[in-house]
Amino acid sequence: MNGPLKVALLGCGTVGSAVLRLLQDQSGDLAARIGRPVEVAGVAVRRPQHHPDVPGDLLTTDAHALVTRDDVDLVVEVIGGIEPARSLMLAAFESGKSVVSANKALLAEDGVALHAAAAKAGVDLYYEAAVAGSIPILRPLRESLAGDQLSRVVGIVNGTTNYILSRMAETGAGFGEALAEATELGYAEADPTADVDGFDAAAKAAILASLAFHTPVSAADVHREGISEVTATDVARAAEIGCTVKLLAICERVAGTDGDSVAVRVHPAMIPTTHPLASVSGAFNAVFVEAEAAGQLMFYGQGAGGEPTASAVLGDLVAVARNRLAGAAGQGPSGYADLAVRPMAETPTRYHVSLDVADKPGVLAAVAQEFAQHGVSISTVRQTGRGDAATLVIVTHSAPDAALSDTIDALREMPAVVGVTSVLRVEGLS
Ligand code: HSE
Repeated sequence: MNGPLKVALLGCGTVGSAVLRLLQDQSGDLAARIGRPVEVAGVAVRRPQHHPDVPGDLLTTDAHALVTRDDVDLVVEVIGGIEPARSLMLAAFESGKSVVSANKALLAEDGVALHAAAAKAGVDLYYEAAVAGSIPILRPLRESLAGDQLSRVVGIVNGTTNYILSRMAETGAGFGEALAEATELGYAEADPTADVDGFDAAAKAAILASLAFHTPVSAADVHREGISEVTATDVARAAEIGCTVKLLAICERVAGTDGDSVAVRVHPAMIPTTHPLASVSGAFNAVFVEAEAAGQLMFYGQGAGGEPTASAVLGDLVAVARNRLAGAAGQGPSGYADLAVRPMAETPTRYHVSLDVADKPGVLAAVAQEFAQHGVSISTVRQTGRGDAATLVIVTHSAPDAALSDTIDALREMPAVVGVTSVLRVEGLS
């Protein structure tokens, strides 16, 4: 068997068409790197008439027939969503074909079953493009760092929300205004829910945590909060304490009396402007990794877009093609550690709270008492006065998240508290 390796491309949107273009433009280099030419066997799309640039004899609406064709060796899935992507992937495995996918939602929902199906068939399932677009992060977690112990992976893995938060910080705009600008400039989709409400980042967090901690984590295990409640006041308060607001995907190993567990969460947080992630602005992505032996690492780049994402897809394609020619599948991710997933309520976090209060004796003591009653230790307090009113800005030490949120609820009920004007978690402060 010395003919070209044949690839079925499922989907030809922004990413698929970039994959197709790069496969053609770089065919010579790819053949040299793989050891065999790569040829596109077919391109499955829903509406062939929308793809005038793709040779007509490659286009098909029958994706299932394409992936199960005898002459197809490898499948690239860039359709996205759960179905029909899942059925097509399973059909590919059953007919002995490795799959390269960019499908974060599917991998985050059903990664364990899909890996099991690929392993049973002795083929590969690679999906570098599913998390942070062009940035190589899954392979480093899976391979380069396989000899180390990871403690935390913190990512800015959604470009839309990072763009919005960056503009809020730059211009002082509120969320609605910054979202409108992002939509007009094409950074946000017409329906921005998946990005703004954190679903996209939560799927990526599940994938990152699974690989980092050798533990199956699905999107349903991820605590998720979006950025629509972030106010211009939150952003201004962050600046006052030398911080900036980011939507973070935080995956960490947490030690407990009953053993280690993993905590995985997506929410907006203040981080110090000196933290490497603080300088990631606009639509860029970055993933910050803390490992026992390697120390701190940061991976930075373009997290979306046709060509950047296609770069990751093609990197995987080269890997699975080489494996196929070697007659072997690569090692899939391991779930051997199988750590428990820690509920958000029990996950240690820190809060920044800004309160408008009456400026009179005993108010600060009463506020501090409320924190103490919930077992929350205060790190810093700053007061600014305005006549007989004052603003208290409090940063806590780490405490279980439920204790912190219960404290906020109790503060809202205190007669001396005129208003709780900003509540945001804080990450990366010493
Ligand atoms: N919609 C994502 C983002 C890119 O805004 O970063 C695809 O995951």
